[in-house]
Amino acid sequence: MHQDNSELIPLLPSHTDEMVKMADETGFFKEHEVQALREVLDDFHAENHVYEHKAYLLKDKDKKLGFVYYAPAPMTEGTWQLWWIVVQYDLQGKGLGGRMLKHVENHARELGGRVLFIETSSQEKYDPTRNFYLKYGYLLEARMRGFYAAGDDMMVYRKSLVPE
Ligand SMILES: CC(C)(COP(=O)(O)OP(=O)(O)OC[C@H]1O[C@@H](n2cnc3c(N)ncnc32)[C@H](O)[C@@H]1OP(=O)(O)O)[C@@H](O)C(=O)NCCC(=O)NCCS
Repeated sequence: MHQDNSELIPLLPSHTDEMVKMADETGFFKEHEVQALREVLDDFHAENHVYEHKAYLLKDKDKKLGFVYYAPAPMTEGTWQLWWIVVQYDLQGKGLGGRMLKHVENHARELGGRVLFIETSSQEKYDPTRNFYLKYGYLLEARMRGFYAAGDDMMVYRKSLVPE
């Protein structure tokens, strides 16, 4: 079982190429999204870590299993957003994504997080991704029609990190 010995460590600049490749290999992201990930990681290491942005690698010994990126939303009180969560394509469905999501929730809560929002696409291709969020206790909060492209809506999921 991979999750038994796996650990989360802060992402380093030297991990960027492999994380971009990992995201690309899932087949879930468009070329401009994969390019945006590289920019997000570069900006993270250059300055955004100062603004409480967080990026972690899930690994088992030398094997990289997945990564996660999350951050507080600017100009809010205790609102956090999940930017990226990716599990290596041939290791999906084994609980690794859930493990990273729990880490995000606990860490955000420790840092004063009150609520976590997650955005994803309405496309059929993302059915498993949306089911993943539902399985881990997220509820659909909003649907922004045509946000990503004509016929491709933004689905916003929400979970409270503290009793409301
Ligand atoms: C979405 C993702 C992070 C979930 O991580 P995971 O380790 O596969 O998920 P877990 O094993 O913790 O949870 C399994 C649940 O997630 C859902 N799921 C999503 N993708 C799945 C997949 N490829 N295989 C199996 N289950 C998947 C199912 O609902 C499943 O529950 P079920 O077995 O009761 O049906 C991962 O599949 C992934 O990287 N997908 C591609 C990239 C993506 O969509 N990222 C999110 C947008 S930024």
